Amino acid sequence: MLANLNDVLIPARKLGYAVGSFNVHNLETIQVVFDAATSLDLSVIIAFGEKVSHISDIQLIGKCVHTLANRTQIPIVLHLDHCKSIDFIVKAIQAGFTSVMYDGSSLSVAENIKNTSEVVRIAHAAGITVEAELGSIPAEDTGQVIVEDQLTKPEEAKEFIEKTHCDALAIAVGTIHGDYIGEPKIYHHRLKEIAKAVSAPLVLHGGSGNTEKDLTLAIEEGITKININTEISNAAVQKIKELFQEDFSGHLSALSNKIRNPMLEVVKEKMNLFLCGRTIIK
Ligand code: 13P
Repeated sequence: MLANLNDVLIPARKLGYAVGSFNVHNLETIQVVFDAATSLDLSVIIAFGEKVSHISDIQLIGKCVHTLANRTQIPIVLHLDHCKSIDFIVKAIQAGFTSVMYDGSSLSVAENIKNTSEVVRIAHAAGITVEAELGSIPAEDTGQVIVEDQLTKPEEAKEFIEKTHCDALAIAVGTIHGDYIGEPKIYHHRLKEIAKAVSAPLVLHGGSGNTEKDLTLAIEEGITKININTEISNAAVQKIKELFQEDFSGHLSALSNKIRNPMLEVVKEKMNLFLCGRTIIK
């Protein structure tokens, strides 16, 4: 069944586990995430980013996830990932998304508060939850870990949530999107301070490439949603490289089929890890 972020993240925060948010861009990747969730009987967040909306039509993504979600009692959140355009957020709501992320992290805090509040007003009127972002979580290709100055400040996070009424907050605690050049670093002390200052669910972007120990600790410290994109893609690309080294020359459909299991394994492994041995509430 379809659910929004509050349905899956509030129990997670209370009981100390995290829900996986996995990025999709087409029917194949949606089916992988859905199949992982149903095979493990776990809630999941299916995330479609504004930046891949040129690959698959958002209306079709909406229809496809609705069709699958109607086949199960497992809560399935259809979430718009990283969106800087309020017009596109409206489009996602019209396409049946149950949750949206407004990313105003590159703006001044005052502008971020103003725009996020506007998104919350629109989304909440439609029963849709809102994730916002505060602090710097670098995009793909930088590979660089961030310095302490760029981290989200606990007092700012508290004020941001009080003023915007967003449902969940993506915080900068050291992770980056994409592959790391050096060793990943999560600033655990800062994460703990933020979790102490706010009660809203906290989101860790850039979940790929971090150690199991670091992620488990981050969940214990208050993270309730972890985003994974790069590791799913890397598993598929690695498989394609191996197939071409073996002189693969089959049909494109055979190639699509062969990358399914490597992606499925990544999603299932992360879902199990994020549970931290807890029993999930549905
Ligand atoms: P990774 O690409 O590092 O897995 O991050 C995913 C993410 O945060 C999507 O918003």
